[in-house]
Amino acid sequence: MVADNRPIGIFDSGLGGLTVAKEIIDALPSEDIVYFGDTGRVPYGSRSRDTIRKYAAEDESFLLKQDVKLIVAACGTVSSVASDIGAKLPVPYFEVVSPAVKSAVNETKNKKIGVIGTNATINSGEHKRQILELMPDAQVFVKGCPLFVPLVEEGWFESQDDVVKQTVERYLADIKKADVDTIILGCTHYPILSEAISDYMGDSVKLINAGTSTALEIGKFISENDMCNENKKIGKHSFYVSDKADSFRRIASLLLGKELDSDSVEQVDINSL
Ligand code: DGL
Repeated sequence: MVADNRPIGIFDSGLGGLTVAKEIIDALPSEDIVYFGDTGRVPYGSRSRDTIRKYAAEDESFLLKQDVKLIVAACGTVSSVASDIGAKLPVPYFEVVSPAVKSAVNETKNKKIGVIGTNATINSGEHKRQILELMPDAQVFVKGCPLFVPLVEEGWFESQDDVVKQTVERYLADIKKADVDTIILGCTHYPILSEAISDYMGDSVKLINAGTSTALEIGKFISENDMCNENKKIGKHSFYVSDKADSFRRIASLLLGKELDSDSVEQVDINSL
């Protein structure tokens, strides 16, 4: 049996991609992971298409320098506006829009699907385009929710927090009125606010976390292509950030449900490596 013991490379503008990393770690515990969070330049979602594409290309080339076997754009914004760059990489590339769209189309009963994401993601129209391709008679209701990202990066995601509750209500009021039964969390930061979003929308509305189906796709791909890490039982997880390591470590430990030690998170200047 051939194996590929190199790590899986994952990147996001900040902490949000950890929701995808967690699903990958849970589904593929023996894989080594290298995660890059571009915390010095977050948020991506309010920037121009050209800037997002430039940042995505730099993040990907940083991960390639870590000798990863595949790259995951664990960022809805990059997946929406820069996947053509990823598709040209010398290693397999995964993004988070199409797995989420497939899950939503499978889940919806009333064919009314909400999509929330950063402004760049919503303006790209990518989720809507892909949903209508798979389900032409679906009704799609979209909303950019830019303030969700700084709330999460600040560590404010408790569902009982008044600021969180009010922000959720203000952004999601129209989608709630539209009677959707499924919402794609089109930004990887948003699953961290799932409880608050569910409290407002009600339990009957299914929230789609792109990380779950992306992790399944990756697992299937590496096993079909003999690319699993056969060296280890428990993989090593390394985290790189472009701003202070400390605040990232604190919130990442909370989100991943395990204490990250001080040498597992390193601050780097990706352009000087
Ligand atoms: N978590 C990212 C996304 O999925 C980025 C959010 C941002 O940087 O604005 O869109």
